[in-house]
Amino acid sequence: MKTILCIGAGYVGGPTMAMIALKCPEYRVVVVDIDAERIRAWQSDRLPIYEPGLDRVVKAALNRNLFFSTDITSSIAEADIIFVSVNTPTKTFGQGSGRAADLQFWEKTAREILAHSTTDKIVVEKSTLPVRTAEAMERILHSGRAGVHFEVLSNPEFLAEGTAVRDLENPDRVLIGGHDTDSGRRAVAELVSIYAHWVPRDRILTASVWSSELSKLAANAFLAQRISSINSLSALCEHTEADVSEVARAIGMDNRIGPRFLNASVGFGGSCFKKDILNLVYLCDHYGLHEVAAYWEQVVKMNEYQEDRFVQNVIASMFNTVAGKRIAVFGFAFKADTGDTRESPAIRVVRGLVAERAQVVVTDPQALGNAHRDLADLGDAVTFEIDPVKAAVGAHALAVMTEWSDYERLDYRRIYGDMVKPAFVFDGRNRLNHRALFDLGFNVYPIGKKPLSHL
Ligand code: NAD
Ligand code: UGA
Repeated sequence: MKTILCIGAGYVGGPTMAMIALKCPEYRVVVVDIDAERIRAWQSDRLPIYEPGLDRVVKAALNRNLFFSTDITSSIAEADIIFVSVNTPTKTFGQGSGRAADLQFWEKTAREILAHSTTDKIVVEKSTLPVRTAEAMERILHSGRAGVHFEVLSNPEFLAEGTAVRDLENPDRVLIGGHDTDSGRRAVAELVSIYAHWVPRDRILTASVWSSELSKLAANAFLAQRISSINSLSALCEHTEADVSEVARAIGMDNRIGPRFLNASVGFGGSCFKKDILNLVYLCDHYGLHEVAAYWEQVVKMNEYQEDRFVQNVIASMFNTVAGKRIAVFGFAFKADTGDTRESPAIRVVRGLVAERAQVVVTDPQALGNAHRDLADLGDAVTFEIDPVKAAVGAHALAVMTEWSDYERLDYRRIYGDMVKPAFVFDGRNRLNHRALFDLGFNVYPIGKKPLSHL
């Protein structure tokens, strides 16, 4: 029985390996991490991440051919194929700080693989990485004892949080980059055969390692660019009485544009869009392509503008002061169906409101644990409440930050009754029924639409 190892048991490593184990029972799949608590959680009934449908996949394979462990050394020694899915955050120090990818975790795993391997391995880049990282990986891996061959492949992950299981089970495509050598082609064929257990062959693309690495950054840049584009127009809509949803529908029905990723919002969040675009920006600058760098950097700047604009809109609409006012923030996760709050627009919005001395109460069905950690330094200015109806009691305003479908079904008549008047709703996701809220008495401020105000 061949063994697949994955180093890094996070949002990507855990779900992707669970899916491979489920679909490929003839492989033994081991997932390791330095974080012992995370590994214990993967082995328990309470998984370390919230992801719809994931329990079912993990349960089906756990302790059959799926194992979680902290024993990195012997797992490396036993593995035939090693996926590396460690975090690659933005660097916060030194050269490239705030832009370049911090590859210290990545390099550490390369050195560990080298130190503990006595047989040939296929090493698969699963993490999102700057173009040509595989070259550095190969140099490290081949700096050791002669006789052990490492073949490095790129196999970026395109799953989105909240839909990870669906995305893994039925991906638009799987991308595998390899070298055009005998051993490169053999390694690519082996990885293709794993995915071919459940992914139609015509959706498994092969490419060069460099194209594969760059395609991952490009996909995220293009997706984020669509959001920044529609968000930029939302600002114009608010000045012209054009409605951003009508504009999105009109342009999205053009087959060449397509309807997805055109929902105007308070801004995009998540651990990757900003990080990957900044990584692309850094790479372009590195190669002297400053115009290209500036072009992509604008996508991130537009996102920050949108988040700040939201806060300014709240303040301006509430008579230019929120000091001492209770504002209930509905949702803290960066999107619905996840507890992940990394780069959530809610973070910047809450901080902006607290800077104006608002009393913020945060509610979220899955993300309150992370919210506590993200806002720990704000002390008493922020409180947390799992029940949105209770969070709204005594509030002057609701600010919807996450598109949880639960928020569309709340008893807003009761909520309105419990709030200070005039009561405001700022819908950062345009998901609520604005007309119905207005009819209940709320002053409603959507994104990119005319406000419905009684004032
Ligand atoms: P994560 O932080 O959730 O998980 C990474 C894990 O790696 C952590 O548990 C950490 O403890 C572990 N780790 C770090 N160094 C290690 C080492 N030396 N040995 C063993 N374990 C180590 O990160 P994530 O969200 O799973 O992202 C991983 C990569 O996948 C990133 O490059 C990211 O850009 C990319 N990606 C993420 C998503 C997503 O939706 N989160 C989607 C596609 C791609
Ligand atoms: C994104 C990509 O969609 C994945 O393909 C990729 O694998 C992943 O990044 C990654 O590399 O980490 P994710 O960040 O999990 O996935 O979630 P998305 O659905 O892309 O949403 C990102 C952000 O954009 C969220 O805050 C979401 O609310 C926001 N968004 C999305 C909008 O504001 N408007 C939209 O129309 C769509």
